[in-house]
Amino acid sequence: MRVVILEDSQQVSLRAAEIICRTVNERPATVLGLATGGTPLGTYRELVARFTRGEVSFAKTTTFNLDEYVGLKRSHLQSYHTFMHTHLFGLADFSVERCHLPSGDCDDLAAECERYEQAIDEAGGIDLQLLGIGADGHIAFNEPGSSLASRTRIKALAARTRQDNARYFGSVDEVPPMAITMGVGTILDAEHVLLLATGGNKAAAVRAFVEGPLTSQVPASALQMHPHVTVLLDPPAAEWLVRKDYYQHVEAIQVKLESPAS
Ligand code: PGA
Repeated sequence: MRVVILEDSQQVSLRAAEIICRTVNERPATVLGLATGGTPLGTYRELVARFTRGEVSFAKTTTFNLDEYVGLKRSHLQSYHTFMHTHLFGLADFSVERCHLPSGDCDDLAAECERYEQAIDEAGGIDLQLLGIGADGHIAFNEPGSSLASRTRIKALAARTRQDNARYFGSVDEVPPMAITMGVGTILDAEHVLLLATGGNKAAAVRAFVEGPLTSQVPASALQMHPHVTVLLDPPAAEWLVRKDYYQHVEAIQVKLESPAS
């Protein structure tokens, strides 16, 4: 796991956008896994800025989002379909038919879960998966206790997650109780995982998934089993890491090795 502690949350967004753009520029038909929430917003703003400056094109890129609320229409203001259209897809040259989100608004949710897994497979799998992390250690909507081998399925949201997401709805009661989400196993299949965490409310979850034991009680800890994970943190999110100095030392060496002059 490459743990990178950056100067502030803006640098986290810039670095994430740089990694995504490098991937897309090297391979325009990249399959990106995308996330919603407050954390990736700065990254999406930077992707749009780079597209607007002509530095990147997403015309050939395929995307799969992590999750969607069950029971919300696509057009609902708080659906993840609306979020992605508002903050990214509608502001750059993404081709709508290649931008996938699971549908939380259908009669047969079990069939939808299977269809989503198949669609990822048929696209050749996810090359680069962008992730946030919940304060309880969840990734996507894989709440504590999720099987670390899970695939796309319906999950009940934990009380804390509903509370955290209440800021987007009028009240906690309006946050849907269930979501359709990629599983931990689905996420682990991505070739490269890029996890972003910013703010002091993520410090405990970051400490738990980076340095704690591998456990379904902290679903993000499953990333310890993945061969290619990059974790971008701002100082408040990194605050509780015991081996912070070591990660910074390793990163300084890594940057030297990667610099063209080396
Ligand atoms: P946030 O959510 O980016 O809004 O903090 C992250 C998550 O719950 O995965």
